[in-house]
Amino acid sequence: MTKKTIRVGLIGHQFMGVAHSNAYRNAGIWYDLPANIEMVCLCAKDTEENLRKFADKFGWKEIETDWRKLVARDDIDLISVASPGFLHRDMAIAAAEHGKHVLCEKPLANDLASAEAMWEAAKKNNVISACGFSYRFTPATALAKRLVDEGRIGEIYHVHARYAQDWDEKGPMVWRFKKELAGSGALGDLGSHSIDLSRFITGGEIVSLVAQLKTFVKKRPVSNEPDAEMGDVTVDDVAQFICEFDNGATGNFEATRFAGGRKNHNCIEINGSKGSVYWDFEDQNYLLFCDKTESKETQGFVKINATDDGHPYGGGPWPQGHGIGYADTFVLEVANLVRAIAEGRPHVPSFEDGVKVQRVLDAIDRSFAERKWVNV
Ligand SMILES: NC(=O)c1ccc[n+]([C@@H]2O[C@H](COP(=O)([O-])OP(=O)(O)OC[C@H]3O[C@@H](n4cnc5c(N)ncnc54)[C@H](O)[C@@H]3O)[C@@H](O)[C@H]2O)c1
Repeated sequence: MTKKTIRVGLIGHQFMGVAHSNAYRNAGIWYDLPANIEMVCLCAKDTEENLRKFADKFGWKEIETDWRKLVARDDIDLISVASPGFLHRDMAIAAAEHGKHVLCEKPLANDLASAEAMWEAAKKNNVISACGFSYRFTPATALAKRLVDEGRIGEIYHVHARYAQDWDEKGPMVWRFKKELAGSGALGDLGSHSIDLSRFITGGEIVSLVAQLKTFVKKRPVSNEPDAEMGDVTVDDVAQFICEFDNGATGNFEATRFAGGRKNHNCIEINGSKGSVYWDFEDQNYLLFCDKTESKETQGFVKINATDDGHPYGGGPWPQGHGIGYADTFVLEVANLVRAIAEGRPHVPSFEDGVKVQRVLDAIDRSFAERKWVNV
């Protein structure tokens, strides 16, 4: 039987545009997928010359500068949205209304109503949706989930997640510092990943919380020119919240752009009645696991070189112990999405997961505005 071909259009050609392009290019090489991937058209905001250069480098056949034309094409089945947050809603809904499956980067949208509208559009148009919570695709976070599912952690007491980066206080203004473009700062950019990871690993949902948001650097130069004007930063540099999960666990989260020395310190620790797990992206191939059922004398964290065994999304292509890198998580994500589309089943994480995370982001904003505990 000849394999179906999934024809892809990508919106975005910078950070995530590169990650997605690499993933579409390699997923079918790494895996024997049930469908072929055809990289039909790249769309982004740039000169045709630059787009052509990018397209040739990664293997996109055509280029487009108008995303509305891209999503309306008859010869595309899947749209990848790798643009700033304020564009996600219109792009994803238009793609779904044209019958395209959609992979949209995180956070799903800049506000809860938009995220819900996107999930509704995907359901109404019967298309498969994917939200880009890429850290679910590391073997170590998948192993953490498996240990929880198998009861090795027991009753969960605490979730402690910190996503810390080290940004330049003097760096120029970019869309990420503007609320109308990004929705929020460290909160949506980094915190959304932590919230999703906590849901993925524990299976629990955050039900109430109290939060604080703070902006340390309130103005940034609007360009790299030495005499550039200063513009207002309208998002948080740091977001912190404590919370309660529906399974009774307590949570303690921080997302910050101002943690000197922390380059991409996306970490999560879960403590339960029978054990604990700890994962840090900066050492992403390892999971720390403490088995509390062992004798006190030998009890402590063991550092497990996590391999692909039991990866809920199919694992990587290498033999055990050979590890994965940042770009690989996107290859795994795309491979899982292609399998889902070819087999006509939902992809996880979907827009529904994006909405569930967005509810928490929304509650954080409300909690900080009202300076009190709120329900999610
Ligand atoms: N999964 C992850 O770990 C991860 C990491 C980084 C960013 N992201 C998310 O990915 C999304 C994009 O972030 P990024 O870092 O790639 O941003 P970026 O600034 O590097 O790239 C944005 C892209 O959007 C394109 N674009 C902007 N306006 C457009 C328009 N009107 N039409 C077509 N294209 C347009 C730009 O040309 C550019 O290619 C954001 O939602 C961000 O939160 C996810």
